[in-house]
Amino acid sequence: MRTEQPKLIRLVDYQQPDYLIDETHLTFELYEDYALVHAHLVMQRNPALGCDLPRLVLDGVELQLLHLAMDDQVLTAADYQVDAEQLSLQPLRPSFTLDSTVRIEPQNNTALEGLYKSGEMFCTQCEAQGFRKITYYLDRPDVMSSFTTTVIAEKQRYPILLSNGNLIEEGVEDKRHWATWQDPHKKPAYLFAVVAGDLWSVEDSFTTMNGREVTLRIFVEPENIDKCQHAMNSLKKCMRWDEEQYGREYDLDIFMIVAVNDFNMGAMENKGLNIFNSSCVLAKPETSTDAIFQRIESIVAHEYFHNWSGNRVTCRDWFQLSLKEGFTVFRDSEFSADMNSRTVKRIEDATFLRTHQFAEDAGPLAHPVRPPEYMEISNFYTWTIYEKGAEVVRMLHTLLGPERFRQGSDLYFERHDGQAVTCDDFVAAMESVSGMDLTQFKRWYSQAGTPVLRVTDEYDAERQLYHIDIAQSCPATPGQANKQPFVIPVAMGLLGAEGQALSARLQDAEQCVTQDNWVLTLNQAQQRFTFTEVSERPLPSLLRGFSAPVKLHYDYSREQLAFLLQHDSDGFNRWEAAQQLAVQVIEEVCEQLRTHAPVQVDGCLAQSFAAVLNNPHLDTALQAEIISFPSLAYLLELQEQADVQLTDKAREAVRLYLAEQLAEPLQALYNRLREQAKQTQYRPEAEQIGNRRLQAMALSYLTLLQRDDIVAATVAQFEQADNMTERLSALSCLVNSTAQSQAQAALVQFAEEFAHDPLVMDQWFSVQAASSVLGELAHVRQLMQHPSFSIKNPNKVRAVIGAFTQHNLPQFHAEDGSGYVFLAEQVAALDALNPQMSARIITPLTRWQRYTPAQQALMRAQLEQLQALPKLSKDLYEVLERTLA
Ligand code: PHE
Ligand code: ZN
Repeated sequence: MRTEQPKLIRLVDYQQPDYLIDETHLTFELYEDYALVHAHLVMQRNPALGCDLPRLVLDGVELQLLHLAMDDQVLTAADYQVDAEQLSLQPLRPSFTLDSTVRIEPQNNTALEGLYKSGEMFCTQCEAQGFRKITYYLDRPDVMSSFTTTVIAEKQRYPILLSNGNLIEEGVEDKRHWATWQDPHKKPAYLFAVVAGDLWSVEDSFTTMNGREVTLRIFVEPENIDKCQHAMNSLKKCMRWDEEQYGREYDLDIFMIVAVNDFNMGAMENKGLNIFNSSCVLAKPETSTDAIFQRIESIVAHEYFHNWSGNRVTCRDWFQLSLKEGFTVFRDSEFSADMNSRTVKRIEDATFLRTHQFAEDAGPLAHPVRPPEYMEISNFYTWTIYEKGAEVVRMLHTLLGPERFRQGSDLYFERHDGQAVTCDDFVAAMESVSGMDLTQFKRWYSQAGTPVLRVTDEYDAERQLYHIDIAQSCPATPGQANKQPFVIPVAMGLLGAEGQALSARLQDAEQCVTQDNWVLTLNQAQQRFTFTEVSERPLPSLLRGFSAPVKLHYDYSREQLAFLLQHDSDGFNRWEAAQQLAVQVIEEVCEQLRTHAPVQVDGCLAQSFAAVLNNPHLDTALQAEIISFPSLAYLLELQEQADVQLTDKAREAVRLYLAEQLAEPLQALYNRLREQAKQTQYRPEAEQIGNRRLQAMALSYLTLLQRDDIVAATVAQFEQADNMTERLSALSCLVNSTAQSQAQAALVQFAEEFAHDPLVMDQWFSVQAASSVLGELAHVRQLMQHPSFSIKNPNKVRAVIGAFTQHNLPQFHAEDGSGYVFLAEQVAALDALNPQMSARIITPLTRWQRYTPAQQALMRAQLEQLQALPKLSKDLYEVLERTLA
């Protein structure tokens, strides 16, 4: 908790560490009401900095110091200084050892940072600065040390004792036993981990490209032993993929994953010992949806890929966080694209970025991919660092091309193996292999905000010339009033009147050859691109595959969008055309509602969707994406001033119209896919997933018709399906329908069946909290009284509070402000327990400037009340200060 105003940490103030820690020897004695941590550190003055001996300043938070010795000389209180965050003392020689013993209380650690208990097991979370809650240390990523760790605990309660690296010794003494692990690779403290518990494991093995055998083990609580297979399969796939696509081989004899129930984030890449939120690793068809299966595949890969992009080559300081996260998200998203449908993956990523990251970039918490300053680093694990960071790497991939990008990544790993480096080092490797000057490109790392492109065009039939004019701009963000032009790759093609790809030559291009798709590279505020030998007036298909994280405006007519939706060879842009068409139609209805004009929905969307459903050349996954409607959150993001209730009404009106117009084909499609599902053995594989998604989409439209036969079919699907994907989509349709008695019956049945499975109960909670029909505030408050709910468990907080505030926008933004009062209450309650969570779930309130003046005032009032609280965590303090600045 805050005692004084937290300090800003600045990138420009970075300095190398004064001292280094060559070896770290730790011993953990774990008991029920406390733990002792003994540290033996072999240290030296940083040889790069000279031979004077400045004071040694170690990080340490909430530690009770019991013993301290330097070079075996016991130190007394007169020899050192301690405050709430640091311990300092004067070394006497350039090389020395430091021994300490501290007492901590893992069982009372509700922040889930450092060493804590999740249920019956002990585990750690050290990124970014949790290690300082375990022992006094130089807790910064550029201090890399070799670790030897001994864990001692009661044998019966904690039969499994784990840490990083290889097990080198173990033994028993009475009722207690111990294990010693040694990690041969030097690492920063944030990658350290310890686990102790009564765990079962599933074991497999992997033979690396050089023929080394690696043991793979997934540890879970005994009741989850049947939920590990998918994660194990995913692990083997991504290990192979990283060898084939990046030439990266695993570097220890064992790779372990542990599932824990209480975890602030998704998972953590601790060296050789990944710790996962159980929701991101456990799955079986009866309890887990397709979405969960896919998420597990990508998160297992993400954490595994960190072994190189993050661990072997790590970050110099936390301003470089995107160096590991952006690159690793890019890697995991390419992996998922290869394992599933590339186009659908790109659609999912773009949708996510445009809904969440664009909103962040447009609000008071906007920050560059490499932030220049922070108070609390935990607040910077953001969509900008992760997802926009990945888009920046993707643009490098596009600009260099796949071969040179691979050479660049090889060079980066080779040059910096074992080092703690910066984003500049990454870009420098790309420059070295390509000969390109990426100085201007690096503005993506330093300038926040989403660039806006305005595109116009002109066709000169006589000279067969086609000109495209692009203007780029970027709105001001906190602390950055004016922006310099970005380097922006715009992938594009041209369509002729028959929908065919037109070929042409791009003037002044490096290779001025005839082709039919191009990457225009913008680098100025205003630029013209001219194509020659253009035989007819083309229709441009712009920003194919979402080649840059920007907002692009081109004045398409609805006919042109319908045409692109039908003919574009780029799957992403077909989907994008459908989105833009839907946005236009919904906006028109918004306007009708605003002016109290009669509501008339343009028929173009229904026609286009009908064509999509009838198109045998489209796979079901893409069909599902195309007819899936822009989310309310995305629609609001596009508006100058977000009007939640009106937009929700308009959106629902258009959905209902579509359901009515397409009732027949949707019903036929639903029946066919449901029958097919009954005949098929469930597997979480791309083709089946596409079918089920389309089936669910069809059912959600049909639900709007309020027909008894459809309710009956939904109930039947809920009761009979053998997999959670179909069961949950049926449950969600019922909950969001007018058939509330059936919905209630299904909810009761579901809760009885799965009361013992917290991960399924999470889904039960969120399907209700996210429902604008059922999820009234009073009901959400009731959910929080349910015995399965606990505010100390982050998954539960996300399932109820998160689902309500992020997915139930009409209720959260209720005009009386009750949703805001509720969220502020929860933020205050959580801040005393778990600051990372309080600072995160407050996010919807931080977007207050986006809403109508009346809503703004209500939101601001809650933010100000929070700011006036007597005790605020550093995390929440920083978020409030920036939000209200
Ligand atoms: N480094 C983790 C990842 O992205 C995320 C994480 C951050 C987990 C901080 C816990 C704490 O893979
Ligand atoms: Zn990561």
